[in-house]
Amino acid sequence: MKEEKLLYEGKGKKIFQISHSKDQVLLFFKDDLTAYQAKKKGAFENKGEICRKISSLIFKYLEKNGIETHWIEDVSSRQMRCFKTEMIPLEVVIRNRLAGSTAKRLGLKEGQRIEEALLEFYYKRDDLDDPFVSEEQIKQLGLIKNKSLIKDIKEKSFLINKHLQVFFKRANLELVDFKMEFGLFKNKILLADEMSPDSCRIWEEKTGERLDKDRFRRNWGQVKESYQKIECLLFKTWKELSDFKK
Ligand code: TMP
Repeated sequence: MKEEKLLYEGKGKKIFQISHSKDQVLLFFKDDLTAYQAKKKGAFENKGEICRKISSLIFKYLEKNGIETHWIEDVSSRQMRCFKTEMIPLEVVIRNRLAGSTAKRLGLKEGQRIEEALLEFYYKRDDLDDPFVSEEQIKQLGLIKNKSLIKDIKEKSFLINKHLQVFFKRANLELVDFKMEFGLFKNKILLADEMSPDSCRIWEEKTGERLDKDRFRRNWGQVKESYQKIECLLFKTWKELSDFKK
């Protein structure tokens, strides 16, 4: 598909306008890896392909389970066609275990299980390093245009977590936490951006081996191999589920 005008270049993706449709965009997944607000930079070959594949698979799985996403179709190994949404400037994080920033900030043990999934909002502002914000702050300080969306976003996020936990468990993986971004398209809230080992913490269920971007953040090595392992396990599970339904 012909890439037209570059609309935006982020840390991991480029977004292009599609010439024949003003309602759609083309997402191109780069090989770049960044962490700590891009203070740490790296890359590995085919990372863009792996993340595109995993994201598409997760979007497809969620669509099959009634969750609307911006994904329309895969266009090439690194490109997907998506609805062009008006992005809501929030990062929604769901945690099923404590890890990363919240464990650190509250002085709690990393890996601690949580009784119920924990939802956190971060205000998407690169210049402020995406700070944590409370629901009250979002509402009272008018951080998003339509504050009535918050309830829908929360419900959708917990539902996505439920579906993904089932899928990952079948793949012998544990979805420890993940970040979502949502966008508005024709008055509907769609899950947007990407869902990949760049934006999720994913541990192997039986061994507890960490397979996501923490391997890069914390210099543990085997980054590519771990991303490939996630891809392989999720695709095997997807195939088993598809064969079962035939
Ligand atoms: P955190 O523990 O650093 O807050 O991250 C929680 C989850 O959200 C983790 O899976 C990584 C993901 N995440 C992103 O994808 N992008 C971000 O900018 C942040 C802060 C987190």
